[in-house]
Amino acid sequence: MFFQSLKIAVLFVFVFIVLGCQEKKELHFNAKELIEKKCSKCHNLDLPPETFENEIAPPMMAVAFHVKSFMHVNDESLRIPKAIAFVKEYVVHPSREKSLCDKASLDSYGLMPSQKDNLSEDELQAIAEYMFEHYTQKNLNEAQAIRNRLKAMPKGERLALKNNCLSCHRKEKAIVGPALKEIAKRYKQEPKMIIKSIKNGSSKKWKDFHNAVMPAFKKLNDDEIKTISEWILSL
Ligand code: HEC
Ligand code: HEC
Repeated sequence: MFFQSLKIAVLFVFVFIVLGCQEKKELHFNAKELIEKKCSKCHNLDLPPETFENEIAPPMMAVAFHVKSFMHVNDESLRIPKAIAFVKEYVVHPSREKSLCDKASLDSYGLMPSQKDNLSEDELQAIAEYMFEHYTQKNLNEAQAIRNRLKAMPKGERLALKNNCLSCHRKEKAIVGPALKEIAKRYKQEPKMIIKSIKNGSSKKWKDFHNAVMPAFKKLNDDEIKTISEWILSL
């Protein structure tokens, strides 16, 4: 009897905590999802944009950078708050006079339609804050560095990275699975083995890996597997 009521009491506390958390969550916006939902129809959200073709509005990165730089402030600490206030105002009441776009761009894009009926003030606040947290010079530099590194990679390595091979394999060093260079050495004369193992997985062929099993990669197509295996053999 005592334990029964204790159980019920514990259950109540648990339900209370869970509900309490959910209530808080509802007020907390996921600004990234919001901006995608409310703004990506017209503004390209990529940082940096990969293409400037078929634009119907300036890329969001450009909007954030230039709104920020256009704000007149004596005190630099007011720049972001002022930029946020500008965005909140503009999205609800856009006009040619207020737009910071040059006239030629304005003519080619046309004025932005008011988004007044498409989002609440809280949502707009979250989006405007996000714009100036996300589209920064630092994040742009990092994104560009990553993109350059990916671009410089051989295609096979990029595929290996994308498909998680490199969480278990390194080029030089054995980690969860054998070093890719060792694999290349072993199968130099029979490259088909590499293709077969990627397709079907592998186990017990290598000692010293605690019988770890390599999973089968069924979702890779033949071309992708060939590209990855050629890259491994090139090491
Ligand atoms: C239906 C298309 C459309 C949607 C949706 C849209 N915009 Fe725009 N927006 C534009 C166009 C076109 C311009 C450029 C012309 C202008 O400045 O009005 C623009 C310009 C802006 C500017 C002014 C930039 C400047 O340099 O003066 C801001 C700020 C802005 N958008 C923010 C947003 C935000 C935030 C959202 C999402 C809540 C959004 N927009 C959704 C089309 C859109
Ligand atoms: C979860 C960890 C893990 C992942 C992810 C993984 N591997 Fe492996 N891989 C292993 C292990 C462990 C072995 C050694 C298995 C054995 O002893 O046969 C291995 C072995 C191999 C072999 C040699 C197989 C043989 O026949 O001797 C190749 C080739 C290989 N992996 C390529 C890849 C590629 C390409 C990917 C990504 C598509 C990948 N691995 C992803 C763990 C992994």
